[in-house]
Amino acid sequence: MKATAVAPSNIAWVKYWGRRNDALVLPTNSNFSMTFGPTKTNPEGMHTTTTVEFSDAFDMDTVIIDGKEADRNAYDRTVAHLNIIRGLAGVNYRFKMESRNNFPYGAGFASSASGGAAEAYAASEALGLRLSKEKLSVLARLSGSGSAARSVHGGWVMWQKGEREDGEDSHAIRVFDENHWPDVRVLATVLDDKVKGVRSAEGMKESVESCPLYALWPSTAESDLKRLIPAIERRDFSTAGLIAEYNCRALHAIMLATREGPKDRPLIYFAPETIALMKQVHAWRAEGLEAYYTIDAGPNVKVICMKEDEATLTDRLKSLPFVKNVIPTQPGPGARLADEHLF
Ligand code: PMV
Repeated sequence: MKATAVAPSNIAWVKYWGRRNDALVLPTNSNFSMTFGPTKTNPEGMHTTTTVEFSDAFDMDTVIIDGKEADRNAYDRTVAHLNIIRGLAGVNYRFKMESRNNFPYGAGFASSASGGAAEAYAASEALGLRLSKEKLSVLARLSGSGSAARSVHGGWVMWQKGEREDGEDSHAIRVFDENHWPDVRVLATVLDDKVKGVRSAEGMKESVESCPLYALWPSTAESDLKRLIPAIERRDFSTAGLIAEYNCRALHAIMLATREGPKDRPLIYFAPETIALMKQVHAWRAEGLEAYYTIDAGPNVKVICMKEDEATLTDRLKSLPFVKNVIPTQPGPGARLADEHLF
């Protein structure tokens, strides 16, 4: 009763922000992402590898992330997630789970997306559930990180919000595979690799409850999505890049306008360097170097460009004193099982 899965991270070009059902992780809007795949200069890609073993010989559940025992929150989330999977299989064996990220954990690089998908895949396989990709996506969503629903698939992925109360139709689908437009690059630019302050789940709840602009968000995102999918279909980089950037700035406007949350602090995920880099990308674009950006619930920036500008942009990004690292990605395959276990 042991299995290992490798799941890629992903970046939303139209974001998810806000839930209509908190416990079931049901979003207020459909959203759309590119799955992070390896490139020539980054053959490893950005992914999480997770091994899960169930056994009646274990007397407790154990969770190890990046070589360390998980903190209380991560432990409780994992146990709650695996309880759902134990329930589906009708067993109550204890488990041991070990997870390894090949990129900074919890700093806006969607380690929760790849982690949630790898956890759902490894645990369900270990218990012999053999789920369809759709069911796996529902299960990944229930990890608590909604974006995990998208990491199940490769290429260009839409998480359809669904209509049903039970959430069974709220799962991701692959819209275009990773070979549809391989020349797109997302340069994940590390400005700060420390763990962020307010988790997305908590931040989006604060936005739904207290942001006076929140009512505008679902319709903004849905209309961006309607324009983005045809732009990706016809490989129209200028339109697609700009929609991704607009959607990101709309998301951060919602965050900025969120009133003080339970922790009495404003929901500002930007670091000063985040803004500096946004302005830099605008300046490069004005010069004719075509690049856009998108930013999640953290300070780091993903610069979007085409393959022909990748080298120039990487050099320019690395020459900025506040850039710590640049990790290139392109559309890649979805989650898979692996034969080699972590323990
Ligand atoms: O998947 P979560 O619950 O970590 O939330 C993700 C939220 C954003 O990354 C900001 C947007 C998205 O769609 O990935």
